Amino acid sequence: MKNLQELPAWKQLWSLFETAKNLHMRELFEQDPKRAERYWLEVGGLKLDYSKNRITDEILQGLMALAREAGVEERRKAMFAGEKINKTENRAVLHVALRNRTNAPIEVDGEDVMPKVNSVLERMGRFAHAVRCGDWLGYTNQVITDVVNIGIGGSDLGPLMMCSALKNYGHPRLRMHFVSNVDGAQLRDTLERVHPETTLFIIASKTFTTQETLTNANTARQWFLREGSEEDIAKHFVAVSTNKKAVAEFGIDTDHMFEFWDWVGGRYSLWSAIGLPIMLYLGEENFIEMLNGAHLMDQHFYNAPLEQNMPVLLAMVGIWYINYFGGGSHIIAPYDQHLHRLPKFIQQLDMESNGKQVTMDGKPVQYETGPIIWGETGINGQHAFFQLLHQGTHITPIDLIASLEKRSNLPGHHEILLSNVFAQAEAFMRGKTPDEARQELREQGVDEARIEALVPHKTFSGNRPSNLIMLNEVDPRNMGSLIALYEHKVFVQGVIWGINSFDQWGVELGKQLAKTILSELTGTIPPQKHDSSTEHLIHVYRQTNCDVDGTCALFDEKK
Ligand code: F6P
Repeated sequence: MKNLQELPAWKQLWSLFETAKNLHMRELFEQDPKRAERYWLEVGGLKLDYSKNRITDEILQGLMALAREAGVEERRKAMFAGEKINKTENRAVLHVALRNRTNAPIEVDGEDVMPKVNSVLERMGRFAHAVRCGDWLGYTNQVITDVVNIGIGGSDLGPLMMCSALKNYGHPRLRMHFVSNVDGAQLRDTLERVHPETTLFIIASKTFTTQETLTNANTARQWFLREGSEEDIAKHFVAVSTNKKAVAEFGIDTDHMFEFWDWVGGRYSLWSAIGLPIMLYLGEENFIEMLNGAHLMDQHFYNAPLEQNMPVLLAMVGIWYINYFGGGSHIIAPYDQHLHRLPKFIQQLDMESNGKQVTMDGKPVQYETGPIIWGETGINGQHAFFQLLHQGTHITPIDLIASLEKRSNLPGHHEILLSNVFAQAEAFMRGKTPDEARQELREQGVDEARIEALVPHKTFSGNRPSNLIMLNEVDPRNMGSLIALYEHKVFVQGVIWGINSFDQWGVELGKQLAKTILSELTGTIPPQKHDSSTEHLIHVYRQTNCDVDGTCALFDEKK
């Protein structure tokens, strides 16, 4: 395996960094009137302005050389060819097959996966059509009005984000609900708003072993059985999983299961049957449009030269900040209310993929890997955390995401929104010099002594990086492209760091410990040896929730 720190481009970038760290973007814009034009890329319905980054042509060349030397092109080819690049789980990584609209064969273990991909898509389409047009009836022959998706992580965030983003395309009769939290409050609140006769539950779990999902699914089934019968379950519960056996054991007829496969990672699964809520809400045609948009980005990622490749550019500019400037955080700020779930979705996509501390061959990494991803709708962020972005001490690159087309017909709103996006990007880049601050205060008639006291506080250093991604409009196709863009960005960064972006062992330890602690909380096993803090916490819980004789009800009807 290549050692990143030994690559010539990695070293050359360090020498470029010595000068680059002192460059101000203001000067770069002044020196090159065509900067905005040159650092601009369009793919399908997406436009990327990457001019407000602390980069020059030379740095970009260095970053692209690094991508080549690290093997991005070879790894990309291997992924698209269905090679088992997820080494620790011995799996192919083929979310691209789910939206392979050319249908060109892609083989895993000698078998073309496309026939089964297409067959599940067709089944989903038939089912979605029946529910949407009112042919699929509940046990009292009423149409379905509410869909409750029970799943967590990748089995929740993608469908939740897409249904929210594409609300304008949603079926007028269908209300979509998403339950992920095992805190009973979320399921209870949802069940209060729906009726068993008109509700369809989708139990979505790749493994069908996830404690939170199975607990919520069991409770939902008990709730349903208060009015419906066992035979009625078939009309109201469907499953989405890779695990037929566990679905059958749970009591859902596998005829009502929509399958996907181990080569689809949870956080990459919204294109698979996990996207069933999306298809139900938007319809088959729009779902296919979303796949088309993702496919378009896949083709671009596969074919475009690295220098003109949107996911590669975003990834490599990110590497520049993470590894050279030492900026370990990255913000996703959609200027669009319906995209408010996007930061959470990208957070899982990126952090669960690249939050790794060893390389593929198990050696500790000697450099930073995945950044902390966070965010919020940009306009709300402006009135909350943007202060730190403008005048704090951290390097916090930000992706500003907006729709060019108006999102509502309320006069003036979209112009105000977009003026804020453009203004923030400008402010991050330009800042405000002490002289500019001084001049402004003079114009306001402030006296000289006060001016000098205020100038340091009113100065903005600027030089703060941002990418601006604009969607021509927020439609299924462009949303497909946008999400595929981020998936490939994450992939490229993983290749640079030499890590496996497709496993997630880091989530296991807590799950293991919780199993034992649950048994201790409920008194099914005697207290175990832990650290004194954990033992104390278990004791405090039992004092509050268990009877003096030690019995502690697991499912308390009253609560
Ligand atoms: O615990 C993390 C995780 O395994 C995620 O990777 C996954 O998306 C989520 O849990 C849900 O898993 P499943 O779909 O198997 O229920």
